[in-house]
Amino acid sequence: MVSANKKSSLCMGFGSVFVVMGAISVVFWPALFFAQLKNNMILTNVSESFGIWKETPIPMYLECFMWNITNMREILAGTAAKVEVNQMGPYVYRESHSKTNITFKDNGTVSFFNQRFWHYEPEMSNGSLSDRITSINPIVVSIAYMMRNERLILRPGVDAFLRIFHRNMFVTANVSSWLFDGIDDPVLDIAQNITEIDIPYDKFGWFYDRNGSETFDGQFLMDTGANDFSQLGNIVKWRNSNRTLYRDQCGEVKGSTGELWAPELGQPEVTIFAPDICTYMTLHKQGPYSTEGIDGVMYAANDSVFDNGYKYGSMACYCDEVRDNECLRPGALNVSSCRLGAPAFVSMPHFYNADPYYPSKIEGLDPVP
Ligand SMILES: *[C@@H]1O[C@H](CO)[C@@H](O)[C@H](O)[C@H]1NC(C)=O
Ligand SMILES: *[C@@H]1O[C@H](CO)[C@@H](O)[C@H](O)[C@H]1NC(C)=O
Ligand SMILES: *[C@@H]1O[C@H](CO)[C@@H](O)[C@H](O)[C@H]1NC(C)=O
Ligand SMILES: *[C@@H]1O[C@H](CO)[C@@H](O)[C@H](O)[C@H]1NC(C)=O
Ligand SMILES: *[C@@H]1O[C@H](CO)[C@@H](O)[C@H](O)[C@H]1NC(C)=O
Ligand SMILES: *[C@@H]1O[C@H](CO)[C@@H](O)[C@H](O)[C@H]1NC(C)=O
Ligand SMILES: *[C@@H]1O[C@H](CO)[C@@H](O)[C@H](O)[C@H]1NC(C)=O
Ligand SMILES: *[C@@H]1O[C@H](CO)[C@@H](O)[C@H](O)[C@H]1NC(C)=O
Ligand SMILES: *[C@@H]1O[C@H](CO)[C@@H](O)[C@H](O)[C@H]1NC(C)=O
Ligand SMILES: *[C@@H]1O[C@H](CO)[C@@H](O)[C@H](O)[C@H]1NC(C)=O
Ligand SMILES: *[C@@H]1O[C@H](CO)[C@@H](O)[C@H](O)[C@H]1NC(C)=O
Repeated sequence: MVSANKKSSLCMGFGSVFVVMGAISVVFWPALFFAQLKNNMILTNVSESFGIWKETPIPMYLECFMWNITNMREILAGTAAKVEVNQMGPYVYRESHSKTNITFKDNGTVSFFNQRFWHYEPEMSNGSLSDRITSINPIVVSIAYMMRNERLILRPGVDAFLRIFHRNMFVTANVSSWLFDGIDDPVLDIAQNITEIDIPYDKFGWFYDRNGSETFDGQFLMDTGANDFSQLGNIVKWRNSNRTLYRDQCGEVKGSTGELWAPELGQPEVTIFAPDICTYMTLHKQGPYSTEGIDGVMYAANDSVFDNGYKYGSMACYCDEVRDNECLRPGALNVSSCRLGAPAFVSMPHFYNADPYYPSKIEGLDPVP
């Protein structure tokens, strides 16, 4: 007869084994977990992370707001003190990324192109793609801007040329043309033929020719984390160079594209490489954050990102060195060199955190955090 005693000691025996194993797991679990995580995350052509990195499975949304200029007539008549704008939108697009031409190198890096697709989401949008938006004609303004330092004698000719095709510096088009389909402009066709400036576009649109383009964002060389796990996801080279167009530290190629990070909770800042503005942005820790039951840390752009060296000296390398360190007022970053010399500037929405000079010229802004 097997005594109840023996049974219980047998059970106790198993029990203590489990207790010991439990204790070992408690002590070593974080290390075991981390080792396994590391294994799954280091990017190789067979790792767990590969699939979700190659085709991002999480839906991302691009919200586009458009500013409709509502007092064009008064501006042209010279009776308007300010530009009056009305915010339209958001016009929402679902964005999906797909990595192509992925080549793993021997030194723990991988090169690839990022192909981006946008799909319009009418139910999430406020308004319709056929809404007609009046804004400044970017082509006329670009030509005028490029001429601003030219010899005086040239300017009346260019002015007359522009006036053949455009009555004024405004243009009205629907949202779909402004964003993805592009606005046709005869000036662009002719400029393409008669100038040496290489303009690769036949239309203007903020995202014209970008939907599904493999090469628009350029080639990336990214760290796979194989040599140094903490470097996972960091961009090493962009368009075959470890420098961008800006000088000093502003021209460094660094940061993550935002899709792959080494797990590191709570560092004071993270760096994002943004090919759209040909540079990186440093985001500052805001505090704890929870989403869908998962704890995290929130990072956000603060007043330092577009500061141009007023409050944060290290940002002065975004000023124009050629023109005697001509610095824009804080709150807008000059990305003209990233846009083939066209006058392009980025700021926070509604000039939030910017020098009051900017919003003082425009009626209809509402900068709130
Ligand atoms: C992964 O890469 C190795 C060589 O580095 C190759 O032999 C293997 O076929 C690749 N596997 C897949 C699934 O592409
Ligand atoms: C945009 O503003 C113009 C006036 O400049 C107006 O005629 C037009 O209706 C506005 N568009 C929309 C979609 O509200
Ligand atoms: C939708 O757009 C109109 C302007 O066209 C604006 O007045 C309204 O507040 C917007 N609604 C939402 C929910 O954003
Ligand atoms: C991607 O790879 C394919 C086949 O190897 C090649 O034909 C194509 O030119 C490459 N694309 C780019 C942008 O290099
Ligand atoms: C790794 O190799 C690539 C191309 O083979 C090269 O461009 C890059 O500079 C190398 N990176 C490092 C960190 O050595
Ligand atoms: C982008 O391209 C995809 C696939 O070619 C297409 O389904 C989608 O409608 C396009 N999006 C826009 C905004 O044109
Ligand atoms: C936008 O305008 C273009 C050119 O006028 C036209 O071909 C296109 O159908 C319009 N799109 C929408 C969504 O109204
Ligand atoms: C530009 O040049 C091409 C051929 O070089 C010609 O076919 C086209 O009509 C020209 N466009 C204009 C607007 O002159
Ligand atoms: C960038 O590349 C140049 C040569 O192409 C090299 O001399 C320099 O050390 C590289 N800088 C960094 C930070 O890797
Ligand atoms: C803004 O962010 C930068 C970069 O992370 C940081 O150095 C700076 O202290 C932050 N400023 C404020 C006021 O938090
Ligand atoms: C913006 O940058 C471009 C190219 O570096 C430069 O030519 C232009 O003068 C700058 N504009 C302003 C307003 O600083």
